[in-house]
Order: sequence, then C-alpha cells, then structure tokens
Amino acid sequence: MTNRRYLISGLAGLALAAITGSAMAQDTVKVGLILPMTGPFASIGKQVDMGARLFLAQNGSSFGGKKIELILKDDTGSADVTRRIAQELVVNDKVAVLAGFGLTPLALAAAQVSTQAKVPQIVMAAATATITEASPFIVRSSFTLPQASEPMADWALKNNIKRVFTVVTDYGPGIDAETSFANKFKAGGGVVESVRVPLRNPDFAPFLQRAADAKPDALFVFVPAGIGAQFMKQYVERGLDKAGTKLIGPGDVVDDDLLEGIGDVAIGAITTQHYSAAHESAANKAFVTAFKAAYPGTRPNFMAVGGYDGMRLIAEALKKTNGTIEGEALVTAMKGMNFESPRGPILIDPETRDIVQNIYIRRTERKNGEIYNIEFDTIPMVKDPVKAAKK
Ligand code: PHB
Repeated sequence: MTNRRYLISGLAGLALAAITGSAMAQDTVKVGLILPMTGPFASIGKQVDMGARLFLAQNGSSFGGKKIELILKDDTGSADVTRRIAQELVVNDKVAVLAGFGLTPLALAAAQVSTQAKVPQIVMAAATATITEASPFIVRSSFTLPQASEPMADWALKNNIKRVFTVVTDYGPGIDAETSFANKFKAGGGVVESVRVPLRNPDFAPFLQRAADAKPDALFVFVPAGIGAQFMKQYVERGLDKAGTKLIGPGDVVDDDLLEGIGDVAIGAITTQHYSAAHESAANKAFVTAFKAAYPGTRPNFMAVGGYDGMRLIAEALKKTNGTIEGEALVTAMKGMNFESPRGPILIDPETRDIVQNIYIRRTERKNGEIYNIEFDTIPMVKDPVKAAKK
C-alpha cells in the first residue's frame, strides 16, 4: 500500500469515527414510564408497557434528532409510590416527559409534580374525566369513562331496556361510568338502581346477589381492566348468566386480554369502547400482528393502544419541536394532533388536552374459534361529555 493509500484509509477511518461519535453523542431524551408492573393491576402496566415499546421498536426511537430512552418504574399501584417515583425521575434522572399512569389515583398523584416541574404528563391508561384538569401538562391517550358510558345509555334506551342495575368499582372511573350512564338513561325514561364495589380486594358476590334479586333487564358493569375475569366468575356463580339479564357497560369488563380466560359466558355482552383487537382496519391488523409477534401468547387490549399512541404523541411532538424538550413546547405541539391509531382516528382536543375518538358498540362473539368484541356501530369522534358540558 502506498503512503497516499494509507492516508486515504486513515482519513476514512477518522470520518467513520466522527460519524459514530456523533451518533453516540446524539442527545437522548428520557421518558419516565410509571406503571403498576406488580400487584393486582399489573396487567394494565404490562399492556401499556408492551404498547409503548412496540411503537419504539417499529419506529426506531429517534425523533427530531433526539433518541428516546424509556425508564420504566413500577409503582405497584400505590399513589404514594407514584408521587415519589415521579419526583425522583424529574429531579435525579432529568426526564423530559412522564408517562404511563395505570389508575386514576396514580395519575392524580403525579399531577402536582408535572405542574411544578413543567414536565408533560402523558396519561396512557387512567380514565376519570377530570384527570386532565389536574395539571396543564397532562395530555391523555387513553379515554374517559363518560365518553364510553353515555353511548351505552343511548343504545339501551333504543333497545327496549327499561330497568338497569349498575355495579361499578367505587372510585373515580366507576363513579364516572355510573353517573354518566344513569343520568342519560334516566333522562330517557329508564330506571336505575346502583351499587358500588370496593377497589381493593373486591368480593362481588353480595352485590351480584342484590342485582340478581332485583331482576333488571340489564346489568351495567364497570370494573378496571384486568379484573373482569374475577367479576365474571362470580356473575356465573350467582346464576346471572342464566337469568336472562343482559350484560352491558363500558368495555373494560370484557377486555381483550381476558376474553379467552372468561370464556363463553361473555358471549352476547354489549359494550361500548374505543378499541377492540378485532377492529376492522389495515392499521389495526398490522398493529395486532406486530404485537402478537413481539409478545407471543398475548393479544393487545385498549391499554396497549393507549401506550402505543401515547408514545406516538411524544414522538410526533419531538418532531414538531425539532427536538426541543421544553415542557410547554411539547404540550403545545400535542394540542390538535391527530392521526390514525389502531383504534381509528384520534385527535387531541386543543382546549382540554383530552382525546377525541370514535366509540364503537360491540357484541362479544366467537370468531374463527376465538372470542372477540365485534364492533357493529360507530359513534364518530366523541369528546369527553363531562368537560363538554362545563363549557
Ligand atoms: C382508572 O383507574 O382510571 C382506570 C383503570 C382501569 C380501567 C379504566 C380506568 O379499565
């Protein structure tokens, strides 16, 4: 080799080193993902985490010149732990974004941290209507219970259901589901009787016995994702499946993650929700196929979609700000953002920072040997009715 050749290969080597160096030095942006990964609500955390990671795996994790580094923390479903972790992530790890939040009390526990630190808080799971009002830095990629429950009341009124017994978990989303359904249903001439079941260690039996004794036309149920199988077991034990009482409600009780385990007793349930793994669209087929390939033996539920779309909001915001990670700039970039999600079209309401999306009416059915929530009607682009009513 001549000297000149040595020189050229040496320069090429230097150039390569420079490129690699700049790739390595590429700014990272830290996203703290706080979820219940253990404890009774671990299924929510796992689904959100799988959805969020799938988005990054498919899209390469660099946006607006910044590489997203996810820091996953398990809050075990305890609000005190969520608050402490949120503070540590902001102060010690200097995260640019907080995300996750499997349950309403957990989202609320971090709201003060996001407000004070001016750090965007992407709520990917929790679904009480008022959550977005707890901090101007909250943007939601999940849903609200009133968004799903009011259309359920309309469907029941149109389908000759006159007396409904509601059973909901006794905290934010359950109370939201009960009140939004009952108000709408009563306004249309329906009759409602209601009970609330504790969030921690619920024993549904005494409540279901009351429901069985009342002999309503339909039982309206809200339990958080992951708890539906427990509920349905006691529903069968009380003989409610054979009593001719229709099971209705927001889709959480028949979440896709649990349906196979719940089995045939879920068939015929009518629920309203924003996502079904059986949603008919090319985007959803690609999402479900990729999800099952990445996580064998699983099926995405609405929590996974909240994680997937929430990560997309962060990615698109970084693109829009050209990598600026200042909190207000990121939240501004997310306002009005819209794209086609596996669930259908979604929009971040620029006024409320809450999600606007289709609500689908579904019947639980067996399809190709597996149990799915099959959508048969669509109410397009529903805003959270609680905030809409305040205007
Ligand atoms: C909530 O705590 O906000 C929550 C959790 C699970 C759900 C819905 C809402 O399925």
